[in-house]
Amino acid sequence: MVLRALLYGHTLTTSINLKNQKMKTQMQKLSIDTKIRLNNGIEMPILGFGTYQIGGGTKAQDAVRYALEAGYKLIDTAAMYENEEEVGEAVRQSAIPREEIFVTTKLRNSDHGYRAAITACEKSLEKLGLSYLDLYLIHWPVEDLRNETWKALESLLGEGKCRAIGVSNYMIWHLEELLDNSRTIPAVNQVEFNPYLYQEDLLEFCRSHHIQLESYSPLTKGSKLHDPKLLDLASKYSKSPPQILIRWALQSGVVTVPKSSKKERIFENSDVFDFTISPEDMKALDSFDEGLRTSWDPSTAP
Ligand SMILES: NC(=O)c1ccc[n+]([C@@H]2O[C@H](COP(=O)([O-])OP(=O)(O)OC[C@H]3O[C@@H](n4cnc5c(N)ncnc54)[C@H](OP(=O)(O)O)[C@@H]3O)[C@@H](O)[C@H]2O)c1
Repeated sequence: MVLRALLYGHTLTTSINLKNQKMKTQMQKLSIDTKIRLNNGIEMPILGFGTYQIGGGTKAQDAVRYALEAGYKLIDTAAMYENEEEVGEAVRQSAIPREEIFVTTKLRNSDHGYRAAITACEKSLEKLGLSYLDLYLIHWPVEDLRNETWKALESLLGEGKCRAIGVSNYMIWHLEELLDNSRTIPAVNQVEFNPYLYQEDLLEFCRSHHIQLESYSPLTKGSKLHDPKLLDLASKYSKSPPQILIRWALQSGVVTVPKSSKKERIFENSDVFDFTISPEDMKALDSFDEGLRTSWDPSTAP
């Protein structure tokens, strides 16, 4: 409970603006079952499994099955990934009760607008074969339509079709606009976030507004796994570079969703709970920042 309180700083009135380092130092006892409490009270696992480009047909289903076997309890998909059927099938076939698996999907950019968003969510639920989503995200801040779309998500939340709603790829100004226009604070903002794209201002903004930051592309899509600085740290902790990157995200108080289509790597990426990165090395990782973007760039989205 104490850990949870530390993770979702908003439940402690005095901890909202904790300095990153203090936060990281305090969050050392993490496990694959650790959850954070979102601003509407629902709990979200800190480690999830990403499914973008996971492969078609049985490949996607197999990968999600391996992830559930490895202990991940959060599965991250999107209408855009064209794999909601396979993800849903794996979730439904698992022996793990539905309520213990946290399923996120996202609204496609072409489905913005009030009516379109309601229909899109219903379509995603149908494809997944589920009666509710744990988290529904606006995938991208589409100009002019995003606030109307948010109203649709509020309706879906009210109807119980989603347990939480949030956004993705929102920069601070997108969030400020949303907060000015709505009484529902997004539960989550999913953005590209890793030591090579350490968006500290966005992290602090989200933390101070009770919005949980969720990191996508935590492994830099594989592009930095051979960086000598990272290899040195991996060797120091006798862990692999992906494990260091995942652990860094978790110790930063950020939910993260690494992706792999390979069973061995899916297990490897979940094996991050038997070591702790020291405060000094957390700081060193923070300093790897080079503004690297491996995905689309929302800083250009008006
Ligand atoms: N909201 C958004 O706009 C958005 C954008 C991008 C991603 N996402 C979400 O975030 C998830 C993760 O991001 P991502 O898929 O872009 O990239 P990522 O998780 O940073 O990296 C995935 C890449 O790393 C490789 N990899 C994984 N584990 C490895 C290991 N242990 N050793 C070596 N290589 C490893 C994978 O290859 P193999 O598959 O061959 O193992 C793949 O090429 C996505 O799947 C998706 O769910 C969201």
